[in-house]
Amino acid sequence: MKFNKFLALLVIVALALGASVVVAQDAPSGELEIFSWWTGGGEAAGLDALIAEFSEMYPDVTVVNAAVAGGSGVNARAVLQTRMLGGDPPDTFQVHAGQELNAVWVAEDKMVALNDLFEENGWMEQYPQGLLDLISDAEGNIYSVPVNIHRSNVMWYVPANLEAWGVTVPADWDEFINTTCPALQAADVVPLSVGENWTQAHLWESVALGVLGVEGYNGLWNGATAWDSDEVVAVFEKFGQILDCSNADRDALSWQDASQMVSEGAAAFNIMGDWAAGYFLVDLALEPGTGFAWAASPGTDGAFMMLSDTFGLPVGAPNETAVRAWLSFLGSAEAQDIFNPLKGSLPANTSADITNGELYNAYFQDAYEDWTTNAIVGSQAHGAVAPPNFSNGFSTVIAQFASDRDAATAAAATAELAAENMMTGGM
Ligand code: GAL
Repeated sequence: MKFNKFLALLVIVALALGASVVVAQDAPSGELEIFSWWTGGGEAAGLDALIAEFSEMYPDVTVVNAAVAGGSGVNARAVLQTRMLGGDPPDTFQVHAGQELNAVWVAEDKMVALNDLFEENGWMEQYPQGLLDLISDAEGNIYSVPVNIHRSNVMWYVPANLEAWGVTVPADWDEFINTTCPALQAADVVPLSVGENWTQAHLWESVALGVLGVEGYNGLWNGATAWDSDEVVAVFEKFGQILDCSNADRDALSWQDASQMVSEGAAAFNIMGDWAAGYFLVDLALEPGTGFAWAASPGTDGAFMMLSDTFGLPVGAPNETAVRAWLSFLGSAEAQDIFNPLKGSLPANTSADITNGELYNAYFQDAYEDWTTNAIVGSQAHGAVAPPNFSNGFSTVIAQFASDRDAATAAAATAELAAENMMTGGM
């Protein structure tokens, strides 16, 4: 009997040891390929800082940083698509919350649901419901982990330069077109710096929000605003007048080049998402408020056009255990407080230390105030409210319009695109 009890005990101990061996085997190791388009400046600094901390936590994991250069992911998305279609997914990849995630990767069953990860980490209570909705399907399956909230509708400038040129931040686009732009052109200053095609689409959405207002803008994505209506034709017309106030070499400039025209005093204003804050702070080491300053893009005071960078777990990822460890880290308050002060964005996790002014300077405090009090709308240029097929087609519309300035044709072409793409991205 005694011997049998001893045997039973041995079995229990052996089982327990076996279990712990299994746990040990489950500890993340091997290569982890992280795919993004963050290759320079504040963006790369933020990602590198995350990878450094993660590598200390998980020394057995070798991170492969597979970033593909090109603002707003124009090149990375093409590479990603080829890899996903070829059955060669990276372990994890950057994707915007909203339609960029849902209309393709989720709709095609290419992503693994992460609800267990959200629950284990207590994130269901820590992420805003509106953001959770953007990364979930209709059944409530959650498909990615947001690392930030960026704002699209920001106008950047240098206060001392505006003063020297005798202009102020325009309250709306009419003031910009009729007063600000001619005054600056007379002083031989580029009124608004603009870069390559995607930055023009980015500018367009700020113009649309400023002209149509929150309801009219949201209507573009939920079907309530007709693309070929007089209102939308008027947006294109205004957009054309604004392009006339910009640098002629825009197609040759990156978003960083266009931002730099402002900080160097070659241009008065630029409209860009607040990764430009990361660029001014990290790449150029400028002081917020003096080296660079900001306002909501003309006519959009009280509205925050958001987008969110997220990472997911594709079906067939080579190293799922390491991805889960990476995503658990990425969504934590700790990781978000490492990343966002360099990136120019707000933490998406509400338990992060955003009210800490040492960590998050005056730009972030201002953006946070607006994020928590403004009307929230979604960015088309960065995947929140329109599917990639629409956005790709819209880039062509913008390129065509930039050369022919035919507002009615541009609006009609976009109406067709919207009809083809079953737009359901309203927020
Ligand atoms: C956006 C992205 C930002 C930033 C920007 C410029 O699409 O959400 O995080 O990378 O492009 O490349």
